[in-house]
Amino acid sequence: MDSQMVKRASFVVALAGTADQKRTSAEKTGPDEKHATKMLRDGMNRARQAEPKTHLVLEALENAIAEAQVFHAETIEAEALLKELTAENERLTKAAQETLDKALQDKDPASIKAGMEQCRQLLLNDSMSRALSVIHGIVSEDMAAARQQEREQRLQSVAKLEAFINVLRANEDTRMRRFHNELQDLKGALRVFCRVRPLNSRETKKGDHIAVDIPDAFTVSLTRSDNEKQVFNYDAIFGPTSTQSDVFSEVKSLVQSAFDGYNTTIFSYGQTGAGKTWTLYGSESEPGISPRTCEEVFRFVARDRERLDIAIRASMVELYNNELFDLLTSTKAAPKLEFKTYRHADGQAAQRLEGIIETKVSNFEDLAKVVMTGLGNRKVRGTDMNAQSSRSHLLFTIYLDITERASGSSRGGKITIVDLAGSERLGKSGVTGDAQKEAIEINKSLTALADVMMAFTLKAKLIPYRNSKLTQLMQDSLGGTAKTLMFVNISPANSNAEETISSLKYASRARSIENDVQVHRKK
Ligand SMILES: Nc1ncnc2c1ncn2[C@@H]1O[C@H](COP(=O)(O)OP(=O)(O)OP(=O)(O)O)[C@@H](O)[C@H]1O
Ligand SMILES: [Mg+2]
Repeated sequence: MDSQMVKRASFVVALAGTADQKRTSAEKTGPDEKHATKMLRDGMNRARQAEPKTHLVLEALENAIAEAQVFHAETIEAEALLKELTAENERLTKAAQETLDKALQDKDPASIKAGMEQCRQLLLNDSMSRALSVIHGIVSEDMAAARQQEREQRLQSVAKLEAFINVLRANEDTRMRRFHNELQDLKGALRVFCRVRPLNSRETKKGDHIAVDIPDAFTVSLTRSDNEKQVFNYDAIFGPTSTQSDVFSEVKSLVQSAFDGYNTTIFSYGQTGAGKTWTLYGSESEPGISPRTCEEVFRFVARDRERLDIAIRASMVELYNNELFDLLTSTKAAPKLEFKTYRHADGQAAQRLEGIIETKVSNFEDLAKVVMTGLGNRKVRGTDMNAQSSRSHLLFTIYLDITERASGSSRGGKITIVDLAGSERLGKSGVTGDAQKEAIEINKSLTALADVMMAFTLKAKLIPYRNSKLTQLMQDSLGGTAKTLMFVNISPANSNAEETISSLKYASRARSIENDVQVHRKK
């Protein structure tokens, strides 16, 4: 029950209560017509003030009149008021139902939302549940139709479906959870977003110009030095003026999916200095996806506290020079981690990192501390392209163990945020020696990631996860049960055009991945 309904219900109890008190006192002290008249007047005033006049308000007034009549009090004025309010209630009820019916007929989510709100105010529960059933039918039908559509048209259908699902969510309809996740799959189990950063001071000083254009919300084009234009399409494009909050608004639906029991992954790919770490972590004043996700997780925990028991753990692992390090250790040098093979109950072999620290967290501050510890231990190095270049792949994982209190059923969800080290051509980043070895390892693992994504694209039987520790780490985040979001971060500068094209091509190959998604049910 929402707070408005609670308020209204308590008003009705108070109104009816006055009649009860009256009767009790009348039984004790004998009929008191004057007192009965006063109580009825109070009841009438309350009924006049109640907004809107629901059937509960009318019933309470009706009861108050009946009680007053027991004491032979004058009730003509109150009866006239009851008649007037009943007419008003009928008029409002009819109008609300007509608005809702018309909106449902027009399949217009905004008017449906308004109509539902009117019905909710009038406590028209039957009309609301009828409407929810109709919406359920519309969503099921449109969802089935959208599955047959080409990608661009399907994305347009998805936007409308999202609005319907929001109406279900606002009315706490339990079917919403399934729809939400079907919708994520319609958007693509792997979605690719492109983010173009602003020109930086180094590029401006060099006299670079902007070579990247965003003709529409799904398209980015790049003009090479020979004036040849190349065009790429993705699921969303964020331009140089996009804010961290704009980016997160497109990402946060994955947090709901994790709470619904799915593995979700967000990773950023791109040339060194292109804005991967900025997009995922940002700064204190402009936090990126990771801190916002942490906040969102605990917003959901507060929202679902009554219904669900939720235990949360977090880990942070770095893959550097093809070796894995746990970043949440308190010892000075991060211990190396190794994979160990184990078998699921169904006999399927899987890999797990032995000895990985998974820190229990119970609030946002705990989780933020975990992130700070991990980031503090990460390896960075200054290169010609980025003063704070990430030289490792960083995997931050939030594990959710969820039990429904009512049914006792449990599920596990997971959010993994992967900040990849920059892809780069060795000459351009100006590195030698150890740094060159780092760059070679980074490129090797990114190639292995591309091969895994290619294998998906071609629907290959064997996916080469084993070719690199990076792909082994991301195994349950790419394909199968996962919902994945990939960012390709690019520089807008003409001097980076060749690197940018190679990043955009890499992302385009990934974009054709389609996964079958299943919920992670616990035994
Ligand atoms: N969209 C943006 N708006 C403002 N500043 C940005 C944006 N993207 C990146 N930057 C700035 O550009 C610099 C380089 O970005 P970042 O460190 O995120 O690069 P990266 O892709 O992680 O590189 P590497 O692969 O070397 O780690 C940072 O100083 C960051 O502040
Ligand atoms: Mg980085």
